[in-house]
Amino acid sequence: MRIWGFADSEMVRKSVKPHKNLKPLSYITETFTESVIREMTRICDAVGGYNLSQGFPDFEAPEEIKRAAVQAILNDCNQYPVTFGEPKLREAIARKVADYNKIKCSPETDITVTCGATEAMIATLKAIINPGDEVIIFEPFYENYGPDTILSGATPKYVTLYPPDWKYSPGELALAFNEKTKAIIINTPHNPTGKVFSRKELEEIAGLCIKWDCLAVTDEIYEHILYDGEEHVSIASLNGMGNRTITINSISKTYSVTGWRVGWAIANEEITGRIRKVHDFLTVGAPTPFQEAAASALTMPPTYYENLRLRYDQLRDFLFALLSEIGFKPFLPKGSYYIIAEADKLMERLAIKDDFSFSRKLIELTGVATVPGTSFYASPNKGLNQVRFAFCKKQETLKNVEKGLRRLCYL
Ligand SMILES: Cc1ncc(COP(=O)(O)O)c(C=O)c1O
Repeated sequence: MRIWGFADSEMVRKSVKPHKNLKPLSYITETFTESVIREMTRICDAVGGYNLSQGFPDFEAPEEIKRAAVQAILNDCNQYPVTFGEPKLREAIARKVADYNKIKCSPETDITVTCGATEAMIATLKAIINPGDEVIIFEPFYENYGPDTILSGATPKYVTLYPPDWKYSPGELALAFNEKTKAIIINTPHNPTGKVFSRKELEEIAGLCIKWDCLAVTDEIYEHILYDGEEHVSIASLNGMGNRTITINSISKTYSVTGWRVGWAIANEEITGRIRKVHDFLTVGAPTPFQEAAASALTMPPTYYENLRLRYDQLRDFLFALLSEIGFKPFLPKGSYYIIAEADKLMERLAIKDDFSFSRKLIELTGVATVPGTSFYASPNKGLNQVRFAFCKKQETLKNVEKGLRRLCYL
C-alpha cells in the first residue's frame, strides 16, 4: 500500500489529473491504493491457487453457531436491528469482556455493535478525530489502519516494530507523542507479525497516553489465538485506561465467520455516543440474525478456545518448519495466524528485487498466494524482502501448499 497521508494532500491535489467532464473526485482517496490483499486474492482465484494471502479460514465454522444463525432467520429476526446492537448481544459482550478482558462496561451505554472490526475502527476514528490530529500506528501494520486514519482526517505517525521479536524502541515511541497526538492504535495479538504486546509494554504505552492525554484504540480481534503460553492483556484493563480506551473486537476470527460481519467497539458513554452516531449513518446496523448467532457464540465453553489454539498451534509449527526448510527466513508468531518471512535467498535465486514481483512469481511457480511485505509499511523501502503467509487453513490445504512450495527447491 502506498500512503501519503492527510498532511500531504495539498501535494496530491496538485498532482491529480482532472477528469474530462467532471469536477475532480475526492483528493483524499488519491492518497492510498486499493487493498493489496484483495488484489492477490483475485490473482490467486484466477489461477486456482492456494490463498494464503487473505486471513479467512477455509475450514467449517462451529456447527452450533451456524444452527443459531439459521434458527434466528427462521424465527424471523430479519429486520433492522437496534442500530447500536441487539440487547442480547450487547449483554453477552459485556459478560465476556468482564470475564476474559477484565473490562467493566455497561451494555446500555458503552457498546456499539458494528459491521465487523473494520467498521468499528473507521467509526471510532471518525468519532474522535479533528483535522490536524495525529494518530500513532506501529509499523508494520494491518493495512486498513493507514487509510482509516487518513479518511478520518488525521495524520498517521509510524513507530517501527523491529524483527525478530518485533519490539519497538521505547525512545522512538516516546518521541512519537506530542500535543497533536489524539490516539495510538494498538493491535494485539498483531497482524502481520504475530507479536503479542506484553503487560509491561502496554503499561508503558498507557503511561504515555495518560501523559499526553490521548486515547488508545485497540484492535483485539486475535485475542484467543495465542501460542507458547502467551497472555492476552487488554490495555483498557490497566490503571487509568478504562476511560481513554476504545476496545475493538469481532467474531470473525475467533469463530471462523469472517463473512458474517459482526464486531463491536467498547468505550465510555461519551465516546460511545459519538461512535453510535457515525455507525448509524454508515451502516445502520450489523445483520440481525448474525447478531443473534454471535450472542450464542460468546457462550461457547472453554474447550472451544483450547481446541482453537491447539489447531492453530499445529498449523503454525507446520508452516514455520516448511518455510525454514525451503529457504525463507520466517519469524515465529506468538499470536494471530500469520507468518512474516524474509525471502532474500529465494529472491536472489530468482533475480527478483521487490516483494510484489516475488509474490506474483510465487503464485506462478507454486500456486501459493501471499501478501507482499510493503503492503504493511508506509515507509518507503521497508518490507521489500518480506511476504506474509496466512495459515488459517485446513491441514490438507497446507499439505498442498507444501507440494507447491517444494517446487522452489528444484529451481
Ligand atoms: C487486525 C485486524 N483487524 C480487523 C480485521 C477485520 O476484521 P472484521 O472481519 O471483523 O472486519 C482483520 C482482518 O484480517 C485484522 O487482521
